[in-house]
Amino acid sequence: MSSIDYDETIPNNVNLSEDRTLKRALEHWQPNYLSWWQDMGPDGSHNFDVYLRTAVSVDPQGWAQFGHVKMPDYRWGIFLNPGEADRKIHFGDHKGENVWNDVPGEYRANLRRIIVTQGDTEPASVEQQRHLGLTAPSQYDLRNLFQVNVEEGRHLWAMVYLLHKYFGRDGREEAEGLLERRSGQEDNPRILQAFNEATPDWLSFFMFTYFTDRDGKFQLCALAESSFDPLARTTKFMLTEEAHHMFVGESGVGRVITRTAQMINELKTDDPAKLRAAGVIDLQTIQRYINFHFSVTIDLFGADESSNAATFYSTGLKGRYEEGKRMDDHVLKGQSYHVLEVRNGQLANKEVPMLNALNEVLRDDYIKDSVAGVERWNKILDKAGISFRFKAPHKAFHRNIGPLAAVKVSPEGQVISDAEWKANVDTWLPSAGDRAYVASLMGRCVEPGKFANWIAPPVMGINRQPVDFEYVRFN
Ligand SMILES: [Fe+2]
Ligand SMILES: [Fe+2]
Repeated sequence: MSSIDYDETIPNNVNLSEDRTLKRALEHWQPNYLSWWQDMGPDGSHNFDVYLRTAVSVDPQGWAQFGHVKMPDYRWGIFLNPGEADRKIHFGDHKGENVWNDVPGEYRANLRRIIVTQGDTEPASVEQQRHLGLTAPSQYDLRNLFQVNVEEGRHLWAMVYLLHKYFGRDGREEAEGLLERRSGQEDNPRILQAFNEATPDWLSFFMFTYFTDRDGKFQLCALAESSFDPLARTTKFMLTEEAHHMFVGESGVGRVITRTAQMINELKTDDPAKLRAAGVIDLQTIQRYINFHFSVTIDLFGADESSNAATFYSTGLKGRYEEGKRMDDHVLKGQSYHVLEVRNGQLANKEVPMLNALNEVLRDDYIKDSVAGVERWNKILDKAGISFRFKAPHKAFHRNIGPLAAVKVSPEGQVISDAEWKANVDTWLPSAGDRAYVASLMGRCVEPGKFANWIAPPVMGINRQPVDFEYVRFN
């Protein structure tokens, strides 16, 4: 029927050309994927030649090959990290048993749900970011956006591979569903709320790749511990790509801060109005974007107490972040953890069984990691001799999931009234005015080596190319 040479068009280390069932399933899915990319991939980009990294194998030489390609021709590959011989399940009720190379019948529904939920975020972010190319602040940034987009596409392939290979007909239906839901669409939205929010401007994009791709890192790390070995090996390889996404976010926000700091020192004022008049983003607005993206992202870890989280752990489907490095019994029965609740109008700790609090455990690990980057942003201000400091908001601030969704909490962690919230919300979260101002800065700046006024150039280019390299040829 089809003459696709899979080893050529879909680089893989899963013996694709020899697995006829899988081949047939993918032959059916691939054209639908490509038509999704045509419709929902980066707007107006299909003819550009983009300097992209492609993985053609998992070894150090093969996982990052650079060259100019048209994105619809990108070779979305399927890679599993090499398996460990005799790998044992190392947490939960099955601890010590051999890992599974197939899906145990009793865990099929839960594993499918975990894989679909992860898979759904991948095309969602491509959809959220699809108009950003039209207002890129430089060719370098445009290329980074596209790199993130094609790799999210590859992550979708990674999850679809698992669905096709291990879940039969249900898996094929789920794989179709992943191409049918649409970010932000009312009648068929993406599964998780943060993936239905708009990414309307580049400051949002950098915040998203810093904060929300980092949620991806923590989810993938937890799945990399899974007793279902193909899931563990797939997610391990995805993590190598995720690092670049977070780099794009951290360095992107850092360059915005660098530019603003230059202007503060040049004009000798930190007055937001004067800085805006000079065309840069004031530090207070950046802080409000941090507050927004941090709070929306920590909701992604789910309810503070969750019996599903306990089940996923005890049955060995999903571990903790760095499970192997922890010094406890890896079963966690009879242990406790603290979550927040509101008592007498104040936030207070409540001890709950740790197994039920594993969402909160992962959220707290995430918070530690993401706060570290905020401190690195502060170093930029410190070096520039500016006393302003960014701060991640309290974890109870602006929450939409769990018991904290029922109360209003300030960024410092004070429970406040609705009236106080209303009076202050515009100083805590991006206001319509902030968003309109940031939007007004967005304009296409794509001559090689040129950068929009509101962002500093990067310290170096991609893959040791110069900063003014022709990263995108528009044709
Ligand atoms: Fe991803
Ligand atoms: Fe990502």
